[in-house]
Amino acid sequence: MGIDWTALRALAAETAGRAHAPYSQLQVGAAGQVSDGRVIVGCNVENASFGLTLCAECGLVSALHASGGGAIAAVSVRTPDGRCLLPCGRCRQVLLEAGGASLLVDTDAGPVELGRLLPSAFTGSDLPGA
Ligand code: THU
Repeated sequence: MGIDWTALRALAAETAGRAHAPYSQLQVGAAGQVSDGRVIVGCNVENASFGLTLCAECGLVSALHASGGGAIAAVSVRTPDGRCLLPCGRCRQVLLEAGGASLLVDTDAGPVELGRLLPSAFTGSDLPGA
């Protein structure tokens, strides 16, 4: 399956422009391609109770399941002006569950596998009975 990185990057930046980030002023958009070809997006949503903030990648994973499930194959995270951001640590863990270690994450140096950004990860196979 081919990934149209140019389109994913543009969509992530466009989605960032719709983020609700009045406290940090950092609007973040995430665009992902699902392995069945679907394209999904998410943006960060802040709250006056700061700790309740939802990252863009969390919205992306919610969109994955809300639109039919499956696995995310590729993701780009951007600001409205197109600057590339790397997912925070929590979001790397959330993305791992949604796409596995082979999920391609966009960086300034090009796509890298999530397994490189989150080595030796905790997964469901660490749970009792797995
Ligand atoms: N943020 C994301 O949306 N994704 C990340 O991976 C890192 C941080 C958001 C959360 C908050 O609204 C703003 O960026 C500043 O931390």
